Amino acid sequence: MSSNTPKVAVVTGGMGGLGEAICKRLSESGLTVVAAHSPGNRRAGEWLERMSQDGYPFAAQAMDVASFASCREAFEEIRRRRGPVSVLVNNAGITRDVSFRKMSEEDWQTVLRTNLDSMFNVTKQVIEDMLALGWGRIVNISSVNGQRGAFGQANYAASKAGIHGFTKSLAVEFAKKNITVNTVSPGYLHTAMVAQVPKDVMETRILPEIPVGRLGEPDEVAQLVSYLACERAAFITGANISINGGQHMY
Ligand code: CAA
Ligand code: NAP
Repeated sequence: MSSNTPKVAVVTGGMGGLGEAICKRLSESGLTVVAAHSPGNRRAGEWLERMSQDGYPFAAQAMDVASFASCREAFEEIRRRRGPVSVLVNNAGITRDVSFRKMSEEDWQTVLRTNLDSMFNVTKQVIEDMLALGWGRIVNISSVNGQRGAFGQANYAASKAGIHGFTKSLAVEFAKKNITVNTVSPGYLHTAMVAQVPKDVMETRILPEIPVGRLGEPDEVAQLVSYLACERAAFITGANISINGGQHMY
């Protein structure tokens, strides 16, 4: 790969609260950014238009991260249009919060498929490109609640804890190939996902646990992801980096 050719980055959930901030930071650092969105997303066109007006020339790609076949087709399209992918941010994720006694099999399966199976479904599509390029960066978005567990999140916490096992295994397998693989574990951020938390739970249970006394901003996490994706971060691999306002330290 010529050093003048912009690298191609794919961000899953790229049009969500955190994903958008990551797309912007990666674009600002000179990458060609493809924002992957769910097939059911009806606002992709409007989002691309708005980003373009703000000076971000993103591309978009529909992909169901819970389906291997959908990811394979989507990456064939990305490769055809943009070339090989050298930066991947596995960011798409969902919650189905409910206490364990009320949790249905569907609540469990849907969250595990979207948050954890997606790591396999998506990463499988880019790893050969990265090996051929002799360079790659993979950042997997986990959560503080994967590190410490959370009331009503047996499914989500299990999926997010599983992510780091995946990260560490790939980090070992590809360390000699100039491909780094890291986990970023954010605390509670200002996004649509957190807006679903009942107000009283937020005020009485969650905010009092955060020493800095506020939610995080998506861009604070995006800057960290952007660093992990850059050339200089070559010695960071297999790490799980917390960014949570002090809510969980270990
Ligand atoms: N800690 C301890 N007790 C809690 C609690 C908590 N966090 N939340 C609820 N409870 C208690 C209630 O006070 C209530 O107690 P009583 O029975 O004594 O009145 C009881 O649990 C309610 O139990 P239910 O079985 O009725 O609970 P439910 O099935 O209705 O679930 C809930 C409630 C959906 C879990 C709701 O409390 C909730 O949404 N909590 C927020 C969960 C959360 O933090 N989600 C994070 C979303 S953001 C995210 O995930 C991003 C990230 O990575 C950080
Ligand atoms: P968000 O705004 O709800 O974004 C989540 C994104 O995931 C959406 O853009 C959605 O795409 C995408 N998605 C969901 N299911 C998908 C599927 N089957 N296929 C493809 N895409 C799918 O939430 P967010 O806060 O930005 O969350 C981003 C990531 O950060 C998640 O992994 C989340 O667990 C993690 N996280 C968030 C917080 C927080 O406090 N917000 C804290 C820790 C970790 P569409 O919009 O295209 O449908």
